Amino acid sequence: MATEIQPIFETARLRLRPCTERDLDGLHAAVGDPEAMRYWDGPLYADRDETARLLRWLMKPNLYSHVGWAVAGREDDACRGFVNYHHRESRDRRLEVGYILAPRYWRQGLMTEAMIPFLKHCFETLKTHRAEAYIDPGNLASCRLIEGLGFKRESGVIRDRWRIDDSYRSAVLYARLDTD
Ligand SMILES: CC(C)(COP(=O)(O)OP(=O)(O)OC[C@H]1O[C@@H](n2cnc3c(N)ncnc32)[C@H](O)[C@@H]1OP(=O)(O)O)[C@@H](O)C(=O)NCCC(=O)NCCS
Repeated sequence: MATEIQPIFETARLRLRPCTERDLDGLHAAVGDPEAMRYWDGPLYADRDETARLLRWLMKPNLYSHVGWAVAGREDDACRGFVNYHHRESRDRRLEVGYILAPRYWRQGLMTEAMIPFLKHCFETLKTHRAEAYIDPGNLASCRLIEGLGFKRESGVIRDRWRIDDSYRSAVLYARLDTD
């Protein structure tokens, strides 16, 4: 159900809506897939129980820190992945964005399509001034996506930003301002 915190966004092919328990399989096809999680800021969700914990977190949006939307097909309503903002700092009008799709949906322009209304919501409704994305520099798909959405790379490599089990993953910072 749409709420003020979480309106529904419709595009030609997609519906971005609050997550429900029925999204478990679709979500697990994304966050339980080693290829999709290759550059993620945390470890693979190894089984459905772990994905169910993520789903419960996504189902408890918090306007002041994180809100996630299921990216579902407009026709079949099946979850293909999610987009979210997190680390929202309202005082600074800043937040970070995240996104993932299950591999079978890649390279069809779907995440670009999903991000356009989502970012419009961040900038216009939430009055965000600065949206950030931290991305593993090896993640060409994500770098290309975010550049296409008007983000600019602002940093060199930020070493070992994320802990993934027993190792660390580095990142580069991208950002887009509402004035860009
Ligand atoms: C990143 C991701 C969401 C992109 O989704 P997508 O729906 O395939 O992206 P789009 O089809 O909208 O493509 C956006 C741009 O990226 C390019 N692109 C997509 N995948 C690419 C790849 N593997 N290599 C190079 N470029 C790629 C597209 O060509 C397009 O560029 P263009 O606008 O210049 O034509 C998807 O690859 C994914 O879920 N990856 C795993 C999760 C992840 O890494 N999330 C980001 C963490 S920071």
